[in-house]
Amino acid sequence: MSKVYAVILAGGKGLRLGDEIPKQFLLLNDMPVIAWSMEKFDSIKEIDHIIIVSSESEMEKTGYIAKDYIKNKPVDIIKGGSTRQESSYNAVSYRKFKEEDIILLHDAARPFVSKELIISCINKVKHFNGSALYVSAIDTIAVIENENVISIPSRENLYYTQTPQAFKYHVIKKSHENAVLKNITNFSDDVSMVIKTGFKVKKVDGSYDNIKITTKTDYETAKVIARKFLQGQAF
Ligand code: CTP
Ligand code: MG
Repeated sequence: MSKVYAVILAGGKGLRLGDEIPKQFLLLNDMPVIAWSMEKFDSIKEIDHIIIVSSESEMEKTGYIAKDYIKNKPVDIIKGGSTRQESSYNAVSYRKFKEEDIILLHDAARPFVSKELIISCINKVKHFNGSALYVSAIDTIAVIENENVISIPSRENLYYTQTPQAFKYHVIKKSHENAVLKNITNFSDDVSMVIKTGFKVKKVDGSYDNIKITTKTDYETAKVIARKFLQGQAF
């Protein structure tokens, strides 16, 4: 029987947000940002095992939070790398997996992913090599080179990328190996690496609530969303 592993990527430093504390440990309704995802994955019966990727210096703290918020599943806390890609690679290579196991990768910096979205990703990847959450782009996006506006791609085909992103183990493993072989170290998400290797990935409809906290403004927005959740009225 294949298993479903949920990986929470929390090995980053939050440099763009610029706080002393990495953003995954900032509080939302008195709960660390990372704890929101921990609780969510812990509550989903389709998930067998949770893997948390942390920087070496934050492993102890991450372990304490995991003890408080993950009550139902086995948890492993493993060391991250210097890039998101390397942290993802560490997660898929620290133990033995079966070829058909499902690996979900989620940013710790996305606290508001819902149970329904996670389950949709799992259901989709069962029939394909990969699945991931997307929402239609709202902003008009420009391609600029040397301060020259080159083009404005039609918004029709543009989407914002979210997590989780889910893959069969053999797909994500092969894609990481391919990236190493080609010396590419800066994929900012797993889907870009997987499609570069030649696999197809299916879109699952994400949600505009499922924001990634990147800047201070995002953190302020997240506090507003968290308050709404507390009052039982998410957007
Ligand atoms: N991440 C990781 N290992 C890294 C870098 C990032 O596990 N070496 C994780 C982050 O903790 C985050 C997710 O990948 O949950 C998305 O990355 P990002 O938003 O870029 O977070 P940071 O790298 O922490 O932020 P910044 O780029 O501003 O420093
Ligand atoms: Mg980063």
